Amino acid sequence: MRTDRNANSDARVVDSVIRSRRAVRAFRPDPVARHVIEQILEVASCAPSNSNTQPWRVDVLAGPAKSALSDVLKQAYEENRHPPLTHMPEVLPEAMRRRQEAFGAAYYGVLGVPKHDVQQRARVTARNFDFLVRQWA
Ligand SMILES: Cc1cc2nc3c(=O)[nH]c(=O)nc-3n(C[C@H](O)[C@H](O)[C@H](O)COP(=O)(O)O)c2cc1C
Repeated sequence: MRTDRNANSDARVVDSVIRSRRAVRAFRPDPVARHVIEQILEVASCAPSNSNTQPWRVDVLAGPAKSALSDVLKQAYEENRHPPLTHMPEVLPEAMRRRQEAFGAAYYGVLGVPKHDVQQRARVTARNFDFLVRQWA
């Protein structure tokens, strides 16, 4: 039977995982074992969804298939054929806009990309389509 004491220690683990998570923007090229991916997907399948619609379908690509997808996505991005970014309102509330600006200054600052260098910024964004495997240089 589950006790409050066990529940508290589970909660502490969850808190610790959430507090230590961070965005990772570069990955080693080492392949991830199939069983690890299957475990991750099995856990992810427990995620809640609106009205339990489970509106996801997962395709896992590796090797040449992944590289081919990267190439197609990058080309679409460069030709401005990628879908619009719908996760941000067009006009951000002021507090959010300031956070976004501070983030941009820190992020592009570390990469040595000047604020108004649109081409260099686009190169940074294009790395998303390599799934951030290659190093920024
Ligand atoms: C919907 C969404 C889109 C994001 N897009 C990018 C992105 O294009 N490039 C990037 O480097 N980080 C991206 N991020 C990561 C955020 O910049 C990051 O979560 C935020 O700066 C906070 O940092 P942290 O996750 O390390 O706490 C994205 C995060 C979310 C949730």
